[in-house]
Order: sequence, then C-alpha cells, then structure tokens
Amino acid sequence: MSAPTLDRPAAGTPDEASLQERFDATIAAEHRIEPRDWMPEGYRKTLVRQIAQHAHSEIIGMQPEGDWLLAAPSLRRKAILLAKVQDEAGHGMYLYSAAETLGADRADLTDKLIEGRQKYSSIFNYPTLTYADVGVIGWLVDGAAICNQVPLCRSSYGPYARAMIRVCKEESFHQRQGYELLMTMMGGTDEQRAMVQDAVDRWWWPSLMMFGPPDDDSPNSAQSMAWGIKRHSNDELRQRFVDMTVPQAEFLGVTLPDPDLVWDEAAGRHRFGAIDWAEFKRVISGEGPMNAVRVARRRAARDDNAWVTEAAAAHAAKHAGGHAGSAA
Ligand code: 3HC
Repeated sequence: MSAPTLDRPAAGTPDEASLQERFDATIAAEHRIEPRDWMPEGYRKTLVRQIAQHAHSEIIGMQPEGDWLLAAPSLRRKAILLAKVQDEAGHGMYLYSAAETLGADRADLTDKLIEGRQKYSSIFNYPTLTYADVGVIGWLVDGAAICNQVPLCRSSYGPYARAMIRVCKEESFHQRQGYELLMTMMGGTDEQRAMVQDAVDRWWWPSLMMFGPPDDDSPNSAQSMAWGIKRHSNDELRQRFVDMTVPQAEFLGVTLPDPDLVWDEAAGRHRFGAIDWAEFKRVISGEGPMNAVRVARRRAARDDNAWVTEAAAAHAAKHAGGHAGSAA
C-alpha cells in the first residue's frame, strides 16, 4: 500500500473537493465550523486577521479610559471604570484564545500588533481629554461595538461566535454605565453639560468610522459575508447605529455634530453627512493623534512584564512535569 500524498489521498480519506463540499454545506445550513473541521485556507486566514484585530482592539482599548483610573471623580466611578477596563482585558484574552484554535500564536500576534503588521480599531487613537469622554466612550464606542458584535454571536466559526456572547453581555453593561454617567453630568452644572457636548462633538464621527470603510470600498466584506463570518455589511451596521443613537441623544439633551442629520420618513431611516474617509485612512495607517503613544505603551507592557510571562511559563512547565512524574 502506498503512502497518501497531497495529490492522491489514501483510500477512505476525503479529497479536497469533497472536504470543500462538506464545508460549503455546513455554511449553507448555518451550522458552525469547529477548530478540528477542515476549512479553506482563505477562511482560516480571514478569521485570524479579524479575530486578531478584534483582540488587539480590546487590549489597546484599555488605554484611553485607563488614563482616567487615577483621576476618577469618586470611589463609585473608579470602581465602575476599573471593572470595565478589566472586562476589556478579559475580552482580549477570549479572542486571543479563539485565534489560537486556528493555529495562531498569541505572542506572535502581539509582535505583529507592535510592529504595525496587524491593525487595531481606529477609535482608540483619539485622546480622552475630560471625564465626560469616559461616558461618551461607554455610550457611543461601546454602543457601536454592540451593534457590530451582536451579529458576530452568529458568526460561522464556533469559538469566535461563543466568545462574542459573553463579550456582548459585558459591552451592554459598558454602554449603560456610560449613558448613566452622561445623564448624571447633564443633570449637573452648565460646565458639566458643556463637557459632555464637547466630548460628543469629538467622538461622534470617529464612532461612525469604527464600522469600517463604505461597502463599495470594503475589500473583505463580500467574501466574509459569503462565509458567514460577518453577517451584515459595514454600511448596514453603521445605519443601524445612527438610527439607534439619535433618539438617545435627544433624550440626553445633546446635539450630534452633523447638520445633515435628518429623519427620512420615506426611507424609514436617518440620513447623515459625509464621513471624512481621508481621516480614517490616516488613522489606520498609523498617523492618528494617539497611534504612537498607544503602540509604545503596548510595547513597554510586553517588554517590562516579560519576566511575568517567563515565570508563568516556567511554573506551568514544572507543574506539567510534576503530573507526568506522578502518573509515571
Ligand atoms: N479600524 C481599523 N481598521 C479597520 C477599521 C477600523 N475601524 N475598519 C476596517 N478596518 C480595516 C480592515 O481590518 C481591513 O484591513 P486589513 O485587510 O489590512 O485587515 C481594511 O480596513 C478594509 O476593511 P474591510 O471592511 O474590508 O474589513 P473587514 O471586512 O474586516 O471589516 C470590521 C472591518 C467591520 C472592523 C470587521 O473586521 C469586524 O467586524 N471586526 C470585529 C469587531 C472589531 O474588531 N471591533 C473593533 C473594536 S473592539 C471594541 O470596540 C472594543 C470595545 O471595548 C469598545
């Protein structure tokens, strides 16, 4: 009997065409692809790209609000913010774990982030200038994240979809704490109300950019949607976010900084002004206001804390050896 080769599989081993057929049928039936299932290389690469970018965003996303941990205005606000920032770390960990099920290596992904070979969300490259920014990030940024991520709970790749369930529950708490903080500030002094309006003016357009480029300029969307990784296009989700957020802004008593924002009765949705895609491109190519700071801090965290990783790895190796020894 001859050994199986790439072009002549062993008897009983499904060939690539039938593996592809089975994969396509699983996607068409809306069932999940699991780590041990065969998958096309493009599907695996797309998932690693998206999940890694998502994980990096959660980890880098700890920084803008983390800047306010030592300056929170009360113990209550500090406890809420601390819990929120810790949640983001947890989200990053689930997502790196999901990427590992696809054969990616966590340390390698971190290196790629630091070396600018993988992206993270544009939104985290803006500064947090006042405490109102903490509330507006919760309301708008986490609100946008929920719009984008709830459909990912139905993503075709099992570990990613399952990670999203808990992430979305926690994001929902994040969004509410932000809105509650803003409601409190809007009930305060004129100066506090002005801080909230200023923060809304600065974060509104970057929040719309979070959803990615317009559909006709989104190279990955069509294939990702055909594979069931993404469930909706960038523009569909952006529209959903605008329609959801406008009444919340009215209730809060702030003005969204877009003179072209109007309700279109016939279309049953809001129309909004042009997004500055040149700014988006600058930010994702590393030239946003805070890109250099964010990446430098991530690099310092990796380098300064390398001894913790090494100690944990040594402890795990010793522990594994102990088990092997006792089993023997
Ligand atoms: N920031 C940075 N890069 C972005 C981006 C953004 N807001 N939107 C798109 N891009 C990048 C894409 O990664 C892609 O670059 P690449 O090919 O080099 O990887 C390029 O721009 C073209 O965009 P596409 O629309 O073709 O890319 P996708 O199909 O991957 O769609 C996405 C982009 C909608 C962001 C999608 O990847 C996605 O849904 N990702 C999962 C969610 C996610 O990563 N969210 C990040 C925020 S996490 C967060 O908000 C944390 C919370 O605590 C607030």
